[in-house]
Amino acid sequence: MSVGINGIGVYLPDKVLTNADLEKIVDTSDDWIVTRTGINERRIVDDSVTVSDLAAKAGLMAIEDAKIDPNDVDLVVVATGSPEMIWPSTACLAQAKMNLSGSAAFDLQAACTSFIYGLTVADGLLSSGTFQNILLIGAETITRLVNWQDRNTCVLFGDGAGAFLLRKSEPGFGILSSYLAADGNRADMLKIPAGGSGQICSQKVVDENLQTIHMKGSDVFRFAVKALPESVEKALAKAGLAIDDVDHFIPHQANQRIIEAAVERLGLPIEKVATNISKYGNTSAASIPLVLEELYRAKSLRRGDILVLAAFGAGLTWGAVVIRWGGANGLN
Ligand code: ACO
Repeated sequence: MSVGINGIGVYLPDKVLTNADLEKIVDTSDDWIVTRTGINERRIVDDSVTVSDLAAKAGLMAIEDAKIDPNDVDLVVVATGSPEMIWPSTACLAQAKMNLSGSAAFDLQAACTSFIYGLTVADGLLSSGTFQNILLIGAETITRLVNWQDRNTCVLFGDGAGAFLLRKSEPGFGILSSYLAADGNRADMLKIPAGGSGQICSQKVVDENLQTIHMKGSDVFRFAVKALPESVEKALAKAGLAIDDVDHFIPHQANQRIIEAAVERLGLPIEKVATNISKYGNTSAASIPLVLEELYRAKSLRRGDILVLAAFGAGLTWGAVVIRWGGANGLN
């Protein structure tokens, strides 16, 4: 049985934070940010908005796009590295906002690789017949977890959400293969040290900003330029495909230079690479559906096209999924 994307939805907060805005907050410059990362601006949530609000808006749009009865959604998975609270899960909070009380719901946490992990888990659960309609949402209010005095990290991130309604697809279309990897020995490279049960909130935590993102930027960079190509090559090999078969490469949007270095290693023409990092920055688990939705709305995806989605993130985690596009809404 094949599993495919039957509907797509996205939600981005209206508020734009430009590099010029950041110049007023930390010692940085538009030129530095654009040259080193490819980011011009990012979206940022208002104080009154939470991550389950974003998730619910993108999720409802995906259900509408799939033209299915919302009551037929039997599982909601929220892929996120910025959950609303430890529990209940953001998936449960979003499920209530979407009025999907007949479904199961849980969060999946693999940092920026969460959406790739989520696609793989959903593929397995649909293939086994355990569920029929899974709403997978990548949603982040990651700017809430940023230290706004740390120029090494605060310029990188943005908020947003993207969702896929996944269900059985025409044989030979949809998800063809996936490759997932993790190395917990390198957990220290990228982490939010406090706020969990290991180090609960305290005055010391706040004084030392331990509830925010701590990153060894150049180590992550070196890891990422290897992890992205490795993921793509392993997932393509599992699908029995080669790099020349790829029509669209949809990488996690962390840094334009990481994407370009990975693409060079892969020998993939840059025209086949989809990016929107300049507008949204690194939206973590939301970045891949946000890029794919742009291709979909622009009608750039043709039936039979081979798509490779790949990501890396804290954990460390990395992985890729290969899809043969059958057309959203195309259960035909
Ligand atoms: N503005 C101006 N100068 C800056 C800024 C800034 N915003 N940030 C750092 N600098 C300075 C540094 O202090 C350093 O100065 P120094 O030489 O005087 O010490 C200089 O710029 C160069 O710093 P590097 O860290 O070497 O810069 P680099 O070229 O590596 O770029 C960056 C830094 C953009 C963070 C890069 O390392 C990177 O993108 N790493 C990967 C990050 C990433 O992908 N993270 C997300 C992972 S996904 C997830 O799970 C969340």
